[in-house]
Order: sequence, then C-alpha cells, then structure tokens
Amino acid sequence: MIHAVERPQAHAPTHCTPEQYDAMYRASVETPDAFWLEQAQRLDWFTAPTIGGDWAYDPVAIKWFEDGKLNLCHNAVDRHLPEHADTTALIFEPDDPASEDRSLTYGELHREVVRMANALKKLGVGKGDRVTIYMPMILEGAVAMLACARLGAVHSVVFGGFSPEALAGRIEDCGSRFVITADEGLRGGKRVPLKANVDAALNLAAHATPVEGVLVIPHTGGTIDMVEGRDHWLADLASDEDCPCEVMDAEDPLFILYTSGSTGKPKGVLHTTGGYGVWTATTFHYIFDYQPGEVFWCTADIGWVTGHSYVVYGPLFNAATALVFEGVPNYPDHGRFWDVVDKHQVNIIYTAPTAIRALMREGDHHVTSRSRASLRLLGSVGEPINPEAWRWYFDVVGEGRCPVIDTWWQTETGGCMITTLPGAHDMKPGSAGLPFFGVRPQLVDNEGHVLEGANEGNLCITHSWPGQARTVYGDHERFVQTYFSTYVGKYFTGDGCKRDEDGYYWITGRVDDVINVSGHRMGTAEVESALVLHAKVAEAAVVGYPHDIKGQGIYCYVTLNVGEDGSDGLLAELKAHVRKEIGPIATPDIIHFTDGLPKTRSGKIMRRILRKIAENEFGALGDTSTLADPSLVERLIEGRQNR
Ligand code: WT7
Repeated sequence: MIHAVERPQAHAPTHCTPEQYDAMYRASVETPDAFWLEQAQRLDWFTAPTIGGDWAYDPVAIKWFEDGKLNLCHNAVDRHLPEHADTTALIFEPDDPASEDRSLTYGELHREVVRMANALKKLGVGKGDRVTIYMPMILEGAVAMLACARLGAVHSVVFGGFSPEALAGRIEDCGSRFVITADEGLRGGKRVPLKANVDAALNLAAHATPVEGVLVIPHTGGTIDMVEGRDHWLADLASDEDCPCEVMDAEDPLFILYTSGSTGKPKGVLHTTGGYGVWTATTFHYIFDYQPGEVFWCTADIGWVTGHSYVVYGPLFNAATALVFEGVPNYPDHGRFWDVVDKHQVNIIYTAPTAIRALMREGDHHVTSRSRASLRLLGSVGEPINPEAWRWYFDVVGEGRCPVIDTWWQTETGGCMITTLPGAHDMKPGSAGLPFFGVRPQLVDNEGHVLEGANEGNLCITHSWPGQARTVYGDHERFVQTYFSTYVGKYFTGDGCKRDEDGYYWITGRVDDVINVSGHRMGTAEVESALVLHAKVAEAAVVGYPHDIKGQGIYCYVTLNVGEDGSDGLLAELKAHVRKEIGPIATPDIIHFTDGLPKTRSGKIMRRILRKIAENEFGALGDTSTLADPSLVERLIEGRQNR
C-alpha cells in the first residue's frame, strides 16, 4: 500500500486551496457552461462568447464558445504589451553550455512574430492554409507557431527526430504547401540535418499539392542546399510592417498534430482556437500555480503536444517566463538539467519519468552538487511514474520541499486532465490524482458496464471539455471510430486505470496496441509496417515490454522469407531500416527471429501471448489450445530466454 504524501506546506501562495478546489470542481460539473464562460475571460476576445459547450458524443460533434471571436497570437503576445513589454517571455538555453543563451521580452517576441508572419505572407500563406513546422528546439520554433496563429494558418509541427519518410507522410496528409525549418538542429552535441531531411521528404512522393515555399531559419550555419524559387532565408522575406492578427472564430482550426494509434498511419489530431486556448490558459494557471516573476521550464520538444501546450501556449497566455531548452539531460554530463535550473533560476520544472529514471541511475551526486534552491514545483508527464522514481524526484531533486504533480493527459485532450493541484491536494506516488475542473472520468469493464467506487477498468471521459480535439484532419469517421465507438456515447482514452477509495486515479498503461516508449506514443502497427517493407522480412508482430529507463521497449517478432537467416548483420540492418522509415525513437530494442507467429486457426495473430512472452511472464499465457501450432509457444519461450 502506498501512503499519501502530504503536500509540502512551504507551497504558498496558491491559486487554489482545498476548499476552492471542491467548490470549483462541483461548479464545473454542475454548471459547466457558466463555469467555462467565466474561465474564458482569461483570454482576450474580439467578440466574447455567450455559448459554452455545444457538443454530443453520438453522433460526434464538439463545439465550445462557438459565437466567440479571438486570435491566440494576440492572446499570447500582443495583449501583454501594455503591461509586460519588458517582461521576459522566452529564454533559450542552447545544447552546448558554452554557446550563448538568449532571451526575448514580450516586446521583442512581438517583433519576431510579426517579422516571421510577414515572411510567411510573402511566401503566400493565408488563413486556413496548413504550414508544416520542422524545427529544432530554438526560439524560432515557438515564433513560427505564433506567426501561423497570427495569420490564421494551421500549424502542423513535426518532431525534428522524425525521418524524411515520416515527414513526407505528414506533409502530404494535411496538404501542406509550406514548410518552416532550420539549416540544422543540435542535440547532445550531434547535428541533425533538418533542411536536408526536408529536401529528401519533398523529393520522396508526388504531392497532390506540391510544397511551394520553404522558409529556412539559420541556426548552426551548416552548409545546405537552397532550391531556387522554393526555399527562402527568413531574413530575405522578414519585415517589420504592421501585421494585424486575423479575427478567428472560436472553432477555426489552430493546429494539427500527428499521433500514433493502434492501427494505420498516424492520425492528424485537430485542435481549434477558443476551447484549446481556454483549456491551456486555465490548466497552466491552476496546475503549475504560476506566480509572476517565476521561470517555468517544460523540457518537452515542441514537436509533441506537451511542447505546444506548456512550452508555448499555456505559459504565454499567462504572461509567464518560459525556458526553451535545445539539449538533452545527459549532455555534456548528467547534471545538465540542474545546471540549467541554477543558471536560469528555474522555479517549476515539468519533465518525463523516462528522464527522471535515466538520471536517477547515474547517482545523486549529479543532483546534490547543484543548488536547485530556486525549485518550487516538480511536474511529471507522458507515462506512468513508478513510485521509486517519484520518491527520488521528490526526495533528492526537490529535497522534500517541492510538491510533485503527475499530470495525466493526451494529445487528444489538449492539456492536463488528471493531476493533483499543488496547493490543494496530498500526493500519492504513482497516482496522477484527481480530475481537473470539468473532467468527468469513468471506469468501464470490457463490456462497457460502468464500474463504481474503488475499482479498475478502462478509462473513459463522459462529458466534453473545452480542450478536447475536434476531429482527425480529413477523416472524421476515423475520429469517431477511434475514440467513440468502443463505448458508444463516451470518449475512450485507450488507457487502463484504477480508482482508489479516495477517488485518486492510477493510470496502468495503454490497453490497446499502442506502446509508450520514453513518454512517446508509438503504434505497434507502424513499426510492423516499417519492418515488412524490408525485402527479407515476411511477417512482423511488435509488442511492448517493461524497460528500466524507457518505461516500455519495442519488442519485434520477425519471420523471414524462405532462404533468409536471422544473422546479427540482418538484425542491425533491420534496426537501421526502422530508424530510417520512422525515426530514432522507433528503433527496435529487441528483434526476435522466429519461424512462425502464434495464430488462431483462422489466422489471427495472438498478441496476448506475444506480449506475455516478451514480458517474461511465461506462466500467464492463458489458453493456448486454439493455436494452429501449439508447439510454437515452447520455441518462442526458449527464444526469449536466450535474449
Ligand atoms: C498517453 C498519451 C500527455 C502528453 C504527452 C503524451 C500516457 C501521459 C501520463 C501520466 C500515466 C500517462 C497515457 C496516455 N500518459 N501522461 N501522467 N501517467 N500515463 O501524450 O503521446 O498523446 O500519449 O501517454 O497512456 O494515453 P501522448
């Protein structure tokens, strides 16, 4: 049994006391429209909304604040100018500690955003156009997102670690005619050839709508090719002339972000303007309990939703100071995070369990040799945090002074959904905690029966919240199928979850064919498709297995074409092949060559068995009598033990 950890009393002032949480949560579920119309006032509207939620889950149609008009770049930047022109908006800390850092005040950020928005206009970007952003973690990444929002263009940020193949697919899927990139990125001392990857991506496929313009930001100064007429340096197009914010309807799209699911290619999750804006502004305020003057650091890349909501939009809506870090936790050494904390006097850090576990393994001295006195709050996101890592984060990093918030949410939810609030709740190591305002979780069994009280089941959300994704770009039916058809009338998260007697939620992990590798969602089907593209591979089945650092590792069962054998050379070749097809984050951890996959007589792969074998749980294989070849299981177990 895990005991609750009392919230450190040093945490004050707070935006939300226990009593306030109870009253506000009650109001948020009893009178949601009034509650959210009030929270909507955190934003500056050209026309204030009078309608709260207008949504249904069967059939699926979701709108919030539909008669309101606003612009989110105005809310993140322009509206702060009267009071905060000289407040630091963004701090850039480079990959190499010896390189120069940089920061932008709200006044300077405004100028940079206007300059880039004017450059995009010259490129031909207008309201509603999709713009792909493929950038390193530099300030211009955030500037690019805001410049798109300013013009009413829909950004689609693709993580800089994705391959040209993956980038091409994402450009094509949303018919993006414009790309913003940098010459190169830097991560852990290595150069990432971003512009060269863009060139390769644009050469890959015949696009229905070819890319017309590529805006290039100089970063490392590395040599790159520029295609005449298509590629432009930012400085050649940027200008300071007035560039007013487009007036957007609340339900106009703001961004598309691709995410993996259990089947098919990645889905373009679509978020709109008003609801996403209110959700990120409100969650940032209450969950991080941000106080004026503090420095907030979310370590996520802007290529993930965490970076969208809590590097860029949430902090800037709140006139906060946010840190943008280009590097990695272990370069040049394992104390890098805490050096950055001390250098910039970071008060709030928000990172992933995988980073915490990796640093914990290296020993306390990397932490204790740094001061960390500025830290006030520690956040975790992306995957379940094991109690051991939680304790280390709380005891060693935070010296028992700083509350830990474990925030559960998803690309589709727009922002945090389940978490403790630092001034209101005691914490339980390993539990995300309680629902945020307006969030109505429900546990159901596999047949869809509602489970009450302390229980374990599949996590659904029964009522819409403003930050909810509205659709899958270009494929609303897929949106409906993926999230609203398993349990009709509810949003199904894909996660398994326990609820305890105090109403705290404990996420147990995905219950679908999605695995969580270092806090990044990976569809097993995507890795399988990449593997079978290789000429020597006949069939592949991919599952997750427990991994000390990554949370889950990628375990691939592979059968080869007749005449091929599973040499070490081929093993390395297949790993490289998957990296090339998807990107380094999809690199298989284990490849298990086998002469067959366990199938039912009707030919269905029995993944449950493959999962158990990969987890080394040979006693729990369940019924194997329906297998076409029962002896295969013995051979697979033997193969697992040899790895
Ligand atoms: C999946 C969503 C949230 C932004 C980053 C990942 C897992 C996320 C937690 C947490 C346990 C978590 C879930 C979820 N997850 N946060 N605090 N505790 N699990 O976004 O790529 O859309 O992945 O990440 O399984 O469904 P994502």
